[in-house]
Amino acid sequence: MVNTRRKLIVVANRGPVSYQRSPEGERIARRGGGGLVTALRSLLARHEVTWIASAMGEEDLAVAGEHGGDAVDETARDGSPYRMRLVASDPSTYDWYYNVVANPTLWFLQHYMWGLPYAPDLDLGLHNAWFNGYLPVNEAFADATVAELERDPDAAVFFHDYHLYLAPKLVRARRPNALTAHFVHIPWPQSDYWHVLPEHLRREIHEGLLANDVVGFHTERWKRNFLRSCGDILGAEVDIAASTVKHEGRTTLVTNHPIGVDPAEFDELKDDPSVLEQERLIAERRPEFLVVRVDRTDPSKNIVRGFRAFALFLDMHPEMQGRATMLALLDPSRQDVPEYSEYLAAVQREARAVNDRFQREGWLPIDLQVADNFAQSVAAYKQYDALLVNAVFDGLNLVSKEAPLLNGRDGVLILSENTGSFEELGEWALTVNPFDIYGQAQAINEALTMSADERRRRLEATRAHVRANDVAVWIDAQLADLDRVSERVSA
Ligand code: F6P
Repeated sequence: MVNTRRKLIVVANRGPVSYQRSPEGERIARRGGGGLVTALRSLLARHEVTWIASAMGEEDLAVAGEHGGDAVDETARDGSPYRMRLVASDPSTYDWYYNVVANPTLWFLQHYMWGLPYAPDLDLGLHNAWFNGYLPVNEAFADATVAELERDPDAAVFFHDYHLYLAPKLVRARRPNALTAHFVHIPWPQSDYWHVLPEHLRREIHEGLLANDVVGFHTERWKRNFLRSCGDILGAEVDIAASTVKHEGRTTLVTNHPIGVDPAEFDELKDDPSVLEQERLIAERRPEFLVVRVDRTDPSKNIVRGFRAFALFLDMHPEMQGRATMLALLDPSRQDVPEYSEYLAAVQREARAVNDRFQREGWLPIDLQVADNFAQSVAAYKQYDALLVNAVFDGLNLVSKEAPLLNGRDGVLILSENTGSFEELGEWALTVNPFDIYGQAQAINEALTMSADERRRRLEATRAHVRANDVAVWIDAQLADLDRVSERVSA
């Protein structure tokens, strides 16, 4: 059943494309950013997909307006047809939803990003943003989902992420028999940390998710935390062995399947002319050793501590000065959220401080590039000797899976124990505690001085795992979960 073509309604804040105007005034569809979109794009080729997403910029809003809120027929890069329905919100509603609730509140909470004596201050602004931003956008997504279910009552609904925790319950109230799954792409923290949020917010979030038939996470660790917090916060009946939660007469299956990448896409990208050009530029500038990091400029990615670790490594190993550079390719992200713009400034300040201390003619210790330049990232994947992924917490971390596929130098992965991918790749990586700057400095040195055989062994094992557990495996696992619950409901 899993391999047959199915009708799916994907509901996620970001769509596979967003519309813009070219300098010549022509409408163009630009590939949507972020890990979720990259991974889910593979669904389009294999299933009959309607994708419901937020209209994000002016041109998206224009497209939504021209279609009266109805879906647009689109074609994926590989020629697969799909429908995209854009949900339009007015700018202040969207701002409260995205720039007050989803990112500085839910994202921060789920990545344990607050120093609690000082933050957060949940003042009237958050309560207002919840009622006048997060709730209405979720209602609008629920309306769009119900409209699509009217058109296709048999379609399965596939909600994604922390932007849309309330929508499933709103859909369930109007379509009690809909088959729905919700995948949470970010960590699920332990239940005490949810107590930072006022009671009604944490209850509504848990109840919203439990309106689904299936709730999925990348890892066993996030799944276990969710099962426990359903018991602690809602008093729901939790069966750890069966991995189910019973609440208000419904049973939800809770699963964990780490998302994968599409190896064919990266095999193709490897020799793309824009990637080859970027690779030439990197190869021209690089010293003997290259430590690479590729991230959005998100505080959860732990970029500042990574720079401090690199400086400490240079202090501890003066013989590496002039021979090793950290290439940091950072995609600017969520810059309308003050915490994010302040963090980007802190990143730039730290890189400057390290460079001022160590740099000399012909050698830049930290080569910081802040740009949305995918070809450059892919080129760096090919060129690294060590890849630093030291996130404070991370739902999965796709860079740790993508980069080893393309690396041509037997590069070593240095991986935070708090990333989701650590459950899969940890045994072949050098493990670091993201707060331990000294440990990270040691790991950088160990990676750059490891024997060639050992480096190759680790890289080949990582690569084989990533190839065998690709995004198609993840998609099939999601669909198999839905089949399991639909059999249970109809039995
Ligand atoms: O799941 C996390 C996620 O939603 C991924 O799509 C991506 O890594 C990132 O966050 C994108 O964030 P945004 O849509 O806010 O740019």
